[in-house]
Amino acid sequence: MAATLLDLTQQGDVATISDESKLDKVKLLRPQQLYELWERQQWLSQEIDFSQDVEDWTNLTDEEREWFVWGMSAFFIGEERVTTQFSGLVMAYEDEQEEAFLTTQQVDEARHMQFFDRFYREVVGMRDADIRERLARVRRNVNDAFVKLFDEALVEAGQRLIADPTSVEAKVDFVTAYHMVIEGTLALTGQWTITDYWEKTGKMPGFLEGFKNVARDEHRHVAYGTWYLKRACAENGALADRVRATLGELLPIASGVLVPPGQDPNDWELLGYTSEQVNKFAFTALTRRLKVIGVPLVAAEPAAA
Ligand SMILES: [Fe+2]
Ligand SMILES: [Fe+2]
Repeated sequence: MAATLLDLTQQGDVATISDESKLDKVKLLRPQQLYELWERQQWLSQEIDFSQDVEDWTNLTDEEREWFVWGMSAFFIGEERVTTQFSGLVMAYEDEQEEAFLTTQQVDEARHMQFFDRFYREVVGMRDADIRERLARVRRNVNDAFVKLFDEALVEAGQRLIADPTSVEAKVDFVTAYHMVIEGTLALTGQWTITDYWEKTGKMPGFLEGFKNVARDEHRHVAYGTWYLKRACAENGALADRVRATLGELLPIASGVLVPPGQDPNDWELLGYTSEQVNKFAFTALTRRLKVIGVPLVAAEPAAA
């Protein structure tokens, strides 16, 4: 048991445990522990050194630049969306420890948006605009699946929670969409390929440093979502069906967000990463979390949109 806890002390997220046999015994970090972890894991989005990145940017291949601009668009716009749509969950806290953790998550999301904005400004060179205009320009790159997930499903789930912060059903729906689908399945999967690529090539060190900090924060956020859903579903078994229904509805849409422009949604490839590899990574992480939550996934693998 102690060893299992140790595995979680850096990130909190059960998907980082590679030994599947440990999942049954895992002791999840609670909101107070996740809050304390946040205090130990501070970082400054405005002080990352982008000087090498500015040089690397001009020497990227056309394919790298095109892929990177497209991939970063979903992150920049996505972080803006999750920052503003988070307020309903802060209102739905059930005790002071959960309240403390949730406010840290909202600050994290704003910091992530600031990090990507600074990258677009200083490395990509979009200096002739303010943040709102940069967001509007970058938004042109996101696809229909992104709009459905972030502008429709997430916003609607947030509105239902704001309308009634005491509704357990609305909170479970929101956490499933936000923490399990958007953060756990989509963001951390995109982060895995992008981090892996720049680590292998040795380029974009400032971006990589900030992006790894973002991923560490996301693991902590997903750890909260796993803790919350486990507790909610243990108290009321009917909520497990709601979790499954939301996943069944949103996973195919999330899978569509990852499809590069102009490629076959069922069989695509980007800089050596195939849809099969990427979907397998996403599905493995989700399956581990759902096993711990006690809601094993019976729906189809989210490989094909
Ligand atoms: Fe984030
Ligand atoms: Fe997050």
